[in-house]
Amino acid sequence: MNVQTNSRKQQSITGDLKLSISLCYYICFCFPSHSRHGTNRANGKAMVGGVALLREASPSPWSVLAGVAAALVLWWAAQVLEYAWWAPRRMERALRAQGLRGTRYRFLWGDLKEESRLTAAALARPVRTDRPHDVFPRVSPLLHRVVQEHGKLSFTWFGTTPRITITDPQLAREVMSNKDGCFLKTKITTRVTKLLFGGVAILDAEKWAKHRRILNPAFHTEKLKGMLPAFTAACSDLICRWENLVADSVGSKELDIWSEFQSLSGDVISRAVFGVSYQEGRRIFRLQAEQVVRVTNAFKTNHIPGFSLLPTENNRRMKAIDRETKTILRGIIEKRHEAMKNGEPTTTRDDLLGMLLESNMNYTDSDGKSSRGITLEEVIEECKLFYFAGTETTAVLLTWTIVVLSMHPEWQDQARDEVLEVFGQNNPDLSGVSRLKVVTMVLYEVLRLYPPALFINRRTYKQTELGGVMYPPDVMVMVPIMFIHRDPDLWGDDAGEFNPRRFADGVSKACSDPGAFIPFSWGPRICIGQNFALLEAKLAISMILQRFAFELSPAYVHAPYNVLTLHPQHGVLVRLRQL
Ligand code: HEM
Repeated sequence: MNVQTNSRKQQSITGDLKLSISLCYYICFCFPSHSRHGTNRANGKAMVGGVALLREASPSPWSVLAGVAAALVLWWAAQVLEYAWWAPRRMERALRAQGLRGTRYRFLWGDLKEESRLTAAALARPVRTDRPHDVFPRVSPLLHRVVQEHGKLSFTWFGTTPRITITDPQLAREVMSNKDGCFLKTKITTRVTKLLFGGVAILDAEKWAKHRRILNPAFHTEKLKGMLPAFTAACSDLICRWENLVADSVGSKELDIWSEFQSLSGDVISRAVFGVSYQEGRRIFRLQAEQVVRVTNAFKTNHIPGFSLLPTENNRRMKAIDRETKTILRGIIEKRHEAMKNGEPTTTRDDLLGMLLESNMNYTDSDGKSSRGITLEEVIEECKLFYFAGTETTAVLLTWTIVVLSMHPEWQDQARDEVLEVFGQNNPDLSGVSRLKVVTMVLYEVLRLYPPALFINRRTYKQTELGGVMYPPDVMVMVPIMFIHRDPDLWGDDAGEFNPRRFADGVSKACSDPGAFIPFSWGPRICIGQNFALLEAKLAISMILQRFAFELSPAYVHAPYNVLTLHPQHGVLVRLRQL
């Protein structure tokens, strides 16, 4: 398709340009001849008159100006039509010509309006109580419908951009491993999400490689050991607060664990990133929580060029939040940098910021030559990213784990028995954590059914072959994690059920294709914080199981929905009973 499509595209663009130029010529030169040389028009020789005019007399400055303005308007209109109609229609024809099926392109909005309508309708309905884990149609109603109607390899429209759904794990791996450097981060997502996070997650090519090399050492398992006290301190604070709340009430206490876990993971990340100055980091966590909701709203409109520049209330507030976050971070980082330069005590190097600054100071290019690391502004962006990536996702994992263990009390009991056997009433340590088999199986099964990140999005950077189909540049490619995690062809007939036993012999034996378990993505861009997140989750769940039994409140409504990550729509009310 592509060579032809591209040459067709070129021809079409050239054709459009020719049309615009001809029209401009006519307007610039023939239109004045109409008004000023009526006799020429009357005898039907406008063009001849225009050319004669050119030869014999110059047009007035006003008519030239009007002509230029009209030409500009026409040129602009042609650009808009090219962007919002001709280009998407050409891409659609090219995809269909190769046998791909999908939704019909709709002017400018593509499927965005339909997606909003379907999502609003899905969110108004609760999940069926007889199949509580069957949440995909609610979380992603458009994709659910499209796969049923058009098959597993199909396309939808993100505004004017075709979005290909890749559900085959083999092909998904090619996308995630960035085969031949063809798949980059999506531009559409990046423009809006920059206000929420930047850094390594939105970079590509050499810049990405450099940032990733500087960050990697901070996330080594060895370094995580040093952060254990910070994790334990944050979890102990949570447990202490819960114990006081239960003690003040008779028998059991109802709590919204969603907001509890958001604070916990905000606290953990503040301590892990900033060490002793973690109190200052807490304000960032609150600002980021508001920014997530605002950025999600902005997705509905900000794909339209120029929309993010309009001074709407949402746009202004998002920019203000971003400014405040950066100011707080700049203050903390500058202080720390100064302290390190002056050789102040090394304790501050045990946190993520200290390790990042140290790795940055020692940075050497891959060719071995010494080179400058990343700038202060780039360090700020990385810290902002830690907040987003490390807070929301882990809070989501902990929340759904408590929900699912409440729905399946037999697994709650098994997990508690294991925790008590390994740690007794002591605080968890690293060697004990590595022996937790049931807890690990439960966490994997929760990550399978309720993956915090639902999609991995990329765009084709150039003409790209994938699974026998040629895609033009700038097509969006989406790997739907939750869909792949629930595909009965990969996981068997009980794919929709909670069964941690499937992970008893490890991830590689849990399904027919080991690459089908991708909660942390795969390949070079795999989540840098996965060990961090799993350690935090294992510590928190162990400490909770040691001290409390829990069940869902009768008021709880099971309603997962997608707000960049998989939130509970109405919070999660849980009844806690101290053991
Ligand atoms: C349960 C918890 C977590 C889940 C499910 C998760 C999931 C993911 C996924 C799916 C990606 C890949 C996105 C893509 O390829 O487009 C990713 C990337 C990333 N995550 Fe996580 N994450 C979690 C926790 C964390 C934590 C705790 C941190 C840091 C403290 C972190 C930092 C990052 C960073 C920096 C990237 C970008 C890596 C790159 O592009 O090279 N994540 N995460």
